[in-house]
Amino acid sequence: MKMSNMENIYYMEDRLLLKTYIKRRIAIVNGKGSEVYDEKGRRFIDLTSAYGVALLGHSNPVIVEAIVNQLKKISSCHGSFYNDARAEFLNEISYFTSRFFSKMLLVNSGAESVDLALKTAFKKTGRSKIIAANRSFHGKTLAPLSITWNPDYKKGLEHIIWNRVVFSEYGNEEDLKNKVDSDTAAIILEPVQGEGGVRIPPEGYLKAAREIASDNGALLILDEIQSGMRRTGPFFAFEKERVIPDVTMLAKGVAGGIPIGVTFFTEEVSTVEEAGFHTSTYGGNPLACAAGAATIKLLRESVTEKEVEERSRAFSKRLEELKGLRIIRELRIRGLMIGIELRVRAKPIVDILTEKGVLVLTAGPTVVRLLPALNIPLSLVDEACSIIIEVMRSYESKLGSSATTG
Ligand SMILES: Cc1ncc(COP(=O)(O)O)c(C=O)c1O
Repeated sequence: MKMSNMENIYYMEDRLLLKTYIKRRIAIVNGKGSEVYDEKGRRFIDLTSAYGVALLGHSNPVIVEAIVNQLKKISSCHGSFYNDARAEFLNEISYFTSRFFSKMLLVNSGAESVDLALKTAFKKTGRSKIIAANRSFHGKTLAPLSITWNPDYKKGLEHIIWNRVVFSEYGNEEDLKNKVDSDTAAIILEPVQGEGGVRIPPEGYLKAAREIASDNGALLILDEIQSGMRRTGPFFAFEKERVIPDVTMLAKGVAGGIPIGVTFFTEEVSTVEEAGFHTSTYGGNPLACAAGAATIKLLRESVTEKEVEERSRAFSKRLEELKGLRIIRELRIRGLMIGIELRVRAKPIVDILTEKGVLVLTAGPTVVRLLPALNIPLSLVDEACSIIIEVMRSYESKLGSSATTG
């Protein structure tokens, strides 16, 4: 059946998909750079980059060309054979990663890369306990779900969730020290928490986590799935803190929109490698690798740390205008990972922004989160920020004095 209008699209998705996503009633059918369009051609400024996936904008012409060329050659090649696109991707990504990690494995999603990191920690240490952080998010397949903090995601599964996980207060070094013990296989942290509210830890926290892990024979795993790939400026967010984890993971924007995940291992940890330890049918497929090589080349040559910082400053300068509002609790910005913490619920504001043509995300109940493409034009930053400021001002004035509560 040919879908000809939005009602048909809504109908098919609503009828056939299990309702696990909280949907916005827009059918996005096209995207170009930082703008997306619905079926009727209505334009939205996309400050979500599809949850960080369209890292260099939707339908980036360089990435599209790489994908099309690869598709014409070969799109599937199991990891038990060698492949030129895969070799090129490994070579490209090593430019940013070989200073820290000697080995990697290519998988298909963030959750799978987390799963592999956990398997590595258990196998390397022979221990069974993991320390994760309050408000952590590491994915929703079974093992990552166990170390993801939000109890709502585990409803009805409590009896099966693996219970050797201890949650520590994010940013609290003392708490981490108190919770680690001789059965701790790993401490896993996001260098900047994403889904948990765009939370930036106090300086020195990651360094302390590194020391605590090493002193106790545990691994330090840093989950860079949201914060990596220059999202915060440097290639990995941990570079700013001068900390090197034993294992790290990337996913989301690595292949500019094609599913991929990568788990990285330091020389010492890579000794767990063993035939059959982890394989996956699609892992390292040439299509994702060609898209990934093109994405990394762009990061190397044109979307530099300086570019990201320039855009970050542009957002920061405009969003500072929100600070006088009573509904604003705090602005948290690290590169292009941006959180606007409110004193009111974020969802109604996100919905109004959607109506006004700006797509943003929530991160917990009271945080509006922006994850724009790293190459978003400055003119769109300005246009989108003007709408955000206008919407928040008008929301506050409609709330009147109740805006100060909470
Ligand atoms: C920090 C972090 N880890 C893991 C994941 C899970 O990735 P995926 O949705 O690709 O499984 C996410 C996704 O948002 C994430 O932000």
